[in-house]
Amino acid sequence: MKKAFLFVTDLDDTLVYRTVGDDSALPELNQLLSQHRQEYGTKIVYSTGRSPLLYKELQAQKNLLQPDALVLSVGTEIYLNGTDTQDSDWAEILSPGWEREAILSVTDKYHDLVRQPDSEQRPFKVSFFLKQKASANVLPQLEAELQKYKLNVKLIYSSDIDLDIVPRTSDKGQAMQFLRQKWKFAAEQTVVCGDSGNDIALFAVGNERGIIVGNARKELLQWHNEYPADYRYLAKSFCAGGIIEGLHYFGLL
Ligand code: GLC
Ligand code: MG
Repeated sequence: MKKAFLFVTDLDDTLVYRTVGDDSALPELNQLLSQHRQEYGTKIVYSTGRSPLLYKELQAQKNLLQPDALVLSVGTEIYLNGTDTQDSDWAEILSPGWEREAILSVTDKYHDLVRQPDSEQRPFKVSFFLKQKASANVLPQLEAELQKYKLNVKLIYSSDIDLDIVPRTSDKGQAMQFLRQKWKFAAEQTVVCGDSGNDIALFAVGNERGIIVGNARKELLQWHNEYPADYRYLAKSFCAGGIIEGLHYFGLL
């Protein structure tokens, strides 16, 4: 029997291509999802590393559906039903022990850390570019130093370049579960989709259904090989096409 499900997807290189690529499966996926939402009450959530500014750019460019909730800045901001105000219950969970000045005083010492643009520095997210070559050295050192000061932080490294520092209580996975519990969806009726490092949290947090798109990056594929699970599906097709494939695989459509 068909019933409502919670659909949570990353955007860049999962739902749509970040730069160039064939987004021709997107209109079909949009159609399937909006019909399901109308008929059964399925909920659509976008979960991205992007800030509100960069999200709006992509939304206009790719003509994305209006989601039921938006999870921005790698899980640190939740916006419900098209509002412009962050969900305050979520912000309350993240704030204890989060001290951005203390974090910056540690990160300032690392010359390999290059600050991302101001728009990507958010209330609960400090972001840098870090080249892959330097990362093997820098990440463990930085992590150890931040731990030493007992700061409420976690490092998330994606796509061999993006380093996000966020509260320990926050990532895409925990934000997804917050919404899942709020809307009372079972794990079996929840599906998460991703392609890179910051999506691992979506797949690792519980036993929600997972779709890894065929064009996934090596950090996610490596993790998937290490921790295979029958509730996770590695698609053959890329981006939206891979998501459609996975939704059929799990019998959700
Ligand atoms: C997006 C954000 C960036 C972040 C990256 C990975 O590109 O704009 O700040 O580092 O996602 O999460
Ligand atoms: Mg992505």
